[in-house]
Amino acid sequence: MIIAVDGPAASGKGTLAAGLARHYGLPHLDTGLLYRAVGLAVAGLDGTGQFEAAAIAAARSVDPSVLDAEALSTGEAGQLASKVAVIGEVRAALFDFQRAFATQPGGAVLDGRDIGTNIAPDAEVKLFIKADSKARMERRARQFELKGLPVDRYALYHQIEQRDARDMANPNGGFYPAADAHLLDTTLLDIEAALRAAVAIVDGVMAEKSRSAKLV
Ligand code: C5P
Repeated sequence: MIIAVDGPAASGKGTLAAGLARHYGLPHLDTGLLYRAVGLAVAGLDGTGQFEAAAIAAARSVDPSVLDAEALSTGEAGQLASKVAVIGEVRAALFDFQRAFATQPGGAVLDGRDIGTNIAPDAEVKLFIKADSKARMERRARQFELKGLPVDRYALYHQIEQRDARDMANPNGGFYPAADAHLLDTTLLDIEAALRAAVAIVDGVMAEKSRSAKLV
């Protein structure tokens, strides 16, 4: 079973995808880490004419087996990721690894922006996670605070809005819910409640599929 979990920055999709992977015993890939690794690799060239070519080269040589989630979790990495993510050749270079992960025997859970639309349009279950910008800002702020990092909520809110705008305008992205995606709004849900709701959706879809298969 492939489960695609898409949604905007700080919507909780990563936590939910990890929870779903644990619940169903499936491997999990946070595809944002790939874009973050490419972004950080070319951080020094941001704003220069070499940025795009360097990002494409970095995407072609990124090693998914050594992604350090902690080092890639910074706001800077997120901003840089959304800048390299608009480059079509970067997306193309990262496609094969994501597709191979999705189609491995037994299935997988992937989270990102375009899993249900581009990477795994054939996923059995597609979730699109939503939460309003203020709730997303507050969650990200608490994550940083738990790590003992200083937080400027005003700046964080603007970073999230900026990243949303860049992602929504991405001509190569497909950052919209797939037509067959199930929307889950987590604005008012804590992690446990959101995971329960996500599991209920996945179980419901799979039960429906097995009912329809028996009727054929
Ligand atoms: O999910 P996360 O916040 O780590 O993603 C960082 C950035 O990487 C996103 O803002 C988006 O620009 C890009 N991204 C993407 N496609 C994905 C995952 C992430 O373009 N599948």
